[in-house]
Parts: sequence; structure tokens; C-alpha cells
Amino acid sequence: MKTVSESFEYKIYASSDEMSKADADLMAQAIVQLDNAYAPYSQFHVGAAVRLVDGSVYIGSNQENASYPLCMCGERVALYNAGANKPNIAVESLAITIKNQKMSIDKPVSPCGACRQVISEYENRHQHRIRILLKSDGPEVYELNSVADILPLGFNGTFL
Ligand code: THU
Repeated sequence: MKTVSESFEYKIYASSDEMSKADADLMAQAIVQLDNAYAPYSQFHVGAAVRLVDGSVYIGSNQENASYPLCMCGERVALYNAGANKPNIAVESLAITIKNQKMSIDKPVSPCGACRQVISEYENRHQHRIRILLKSDGPEVYELNSVADILPLGFNGTFL
């Protein structure tokens, strides 16, 4: 028997001002999407913006349903929007932000497990890591290098 330890690094920007203009702009586009979320049940708005390697940007926001399991997360809407429009272009970065209408959340919130799996699919599909930028109400922005860091031992199509 042996014990394996894994760790990962991520960056914390004190605010969007510390980021590149391109990343600050991508996060700004995600923030705009908070207003387009359809979240009458949870009151939890998620805005997302995907930048592809060709520089184009595709947006998304969470879309809920009275039949709760049909709710679709904002980051998945953005990725599927990109995939539907530019199927052959790799995703470079994904900015995600949240706004809980019921309380303030200071620290960045990470994507749910289902979204991690979908982001992973897009990384594998294009063999290109996806930088993930996360922001909540507070000024801090987290930058993750790859979804693989937050989905260790992930399942992928090579097993099928
Ligand atoms: N949600 C997202 O959009 N992304 C996540 O990663 C977690 C949850 C949405 C789904 C639902 O509309 C609301 O947030 C509450 O779960």
C-alpha cells in the first residue's frame, strides 16, 4: 500500500484591476449575464463568459425550470453556446460569477460537480486546458489553471 498526495496551485487577484485587460473584460461580460439569469426558484444567479482561442466570446447564464432537475447551470449554457457556434475552436478561458439575491457571498464560488465534468469534456475534446476565473460579490478573483485541478481522478472518454 502507498499513500498518494495531490495538490494544486491557483492565483488570487485582489481585484479585476490586477488582471490582464482581456481577463477583466471577460469577467465583466460574465457579470453582465447575471441580469439574464432565469432563477426564480433559487434566486441564485450565475453569469458566465467563455473566450475561445480565436478571441471570440460566448456567454451564458443559469436557466431554471419549475421541474427542478431540468435547471441548467450558467457555465454549461456558455460552453454549449460556444460549442454550438464554434465546434472546432478550443476554449481558452471561462469566467464565472454568481449573485445570490438572498445574501452576499464574498469569496469566489466554484462550479458544481456536473459543470466540472462538462468543462473537463471540453478540455479533452480540444486537448487544451481551460483557465477558470471565479468571482463573487467580493473583489477577489480566483484563477484556476485547469478543471483537472478541481476534478482529480476524473472520468473521461478514453475509458469508453
Ligand atoms: N448553478 C450554476 O449555474 N452553476 C453551478 O456551478 C452551480 C449551480 C445554478 C443552478 C441553479 O439554477 C442555481 O445555480 C442554484 O443551484
